[in-house]
Amino acid sequence: MPVTCVVGLQWGDEAKGKIVDLLTERHEIVVRYQGGANAGHTVVRDGRSYKLSLIPSGIFRPEVRCVIATGVVLNPAALLDEIDTLTKLGVKVADNLIVSDRAHVIFPWHFEEDRLLDRQCGDEAIGTTLRGIGPCYSDKVGRSLAVRVGDMYRPDFRGRIERIVRAKNEVFAALSADVRLDAQEIFDQYHAYAERLAPHVADTTAFLLDAVEADRRVLFEGAQGALLDIDHGTFPFVTSSNSSGVGASAGSGVPGRYIDKVIGIIKAYNTRVGGGPFPTEQDNATGEKIRRKGNEYGTVTKRPRRCGWFDAVAARYTARLSGADSLALMLLDVLSGMSELKICTAYELDGRRTADFPSHVDDLRRVVPVYETLPGWQEEIDGAATIDDLPPTARKYVERIAELLGRPVEIISVGPDRRQTIFVPQ
Ligand code: GDP
Ligand code: IMO
Ligand code: MG
Repeated sequence: MPVTCVVGLQWGDEAKGKIVDLLTERHEIVVRYQGGANAGHTVVRDGRSYKLSLIPSGIFRPEVRCVIATGVVLNPAALLDEIDTLTKLGVKVADNLIVSDRAHVIFPWHFEEDRLLDRQCGDEAIGTTLRGIGPCYSDKVGRSLAVRVGDMYRPDFRGRIERIVRAKNEVFAALSADVRLDAQEIFDQYHAYAERLAPHVADTTAFLLDAVEADRRVLFEGAQGALLDIDHGTFPFVTSSNSSGVGASAGSGVPGRYIDKVIGIIKAYNTRVGGGPFPTEQDNATGEKIRRKGNEYGTVTKRPRRCGWFDAVAARYTARLSGADSLALMLLDVLSGMSELKICTAYELDGRRTADFPSHVDDLRRVVPVYETLPGWQEEIDGAATIDDLPPTARKYVERIAELLGRPVEIISVGPDRRQTIFVPQ
């Protein structure tokens, strides 16, 4: 399929980085289209683990063009750090990376606002990654205090920074926040970033439209997961972009009709970092067992991830929302050693059973999961190369998930390494 989109169907960290790296072999262009340095995608190659925040996971193949498209919010310091780290490790980052001149830029005030806003919410805090993501998207939608990558190369850049810093300092003073921004310092810093980034900056919308019209093989790499989608996720405990499949088009400028295939990425269980309801959460020994075996700690913030049983109600909703044609089922090896496994197949809400995902967070908080119990397997499966190498109970578990989500499982992952992957004959 020339144009493929990879989307996480849970609350992020579904191992999208591993799948994108694997699929990069079959593509010429890999595109990040939303989110920013809140993402932490892991790629394991030749025994070495790489963490990517802004750079697409296609970067390890030098002939592939990696695109940071318009819908991403760009922290230039984080991007330059990532470029330096990869370059030191011998990974080529040159004209193979292009950055949209329309992407919005994250500034120091966005970090301060992220910290202040989340702190004010107390028990209801979203628990953001504190990477300035929400405040930058707010300014994008608000327009008057926004800066896009292309603005950094215009003669009025200094004046724009001065005007925004004045406005932001007034807001911080009104909030009695101990924050005082210095326009000159910020201008000097960002002017230097802009100079270093200049060789990468381009009109990525035009580049991608040319590419799809010429039938080039493009891979879209979603960040976060569909349950964190600003419009369709567990609002307000979401991120500030369209992280479900619907975001690919808006964030890249490529009309949806060019996307030939969507692969939904799911973990074999559920995890969540930060606040918000999580019906199948196991805040107990089971959750702890999954966390330990799956090394479920945030790639970006190192926070312990909340762990629980696979929620088929939520994943069916996001598979439909993202238009998933097939599924990649990740981290199945983590479930080895469990005597039995549970899958949530429905919710009970006010005594009524439903397979629909509630639209209001208060209802999601109140649902009682209805579980189906399946037998587990004891043997380690991290060496399985084909579906026949899996114990029958593991195969049953995979089949049941495919059935509940109404999509075939095309890929099964049994370890972080690219070799620990089963391609299921369709
Ligand atoms: P992403 O944000 O969706 O790219 O996922 P993360 O990188 O944040 O988290 C996934 C973690 O699981 C990483 O540490 C991966 O190296 C690891 N991983 C990927 N696939 C597997 C798998 O099949 N089994 C195990 N045990 N770990 C995996
Ligand atoms: P990847 O791409 C998991 C979560 C945060 C918080 C909420 C809002 O690695 O899957 P934000 O900083 O975006 O305003 O935080 O979203 N979150 C993620 N959780 N994986 C991610 O990215 C995430 N990016 C944001 O923990 O609950
Ligand atoms: Mg991650």
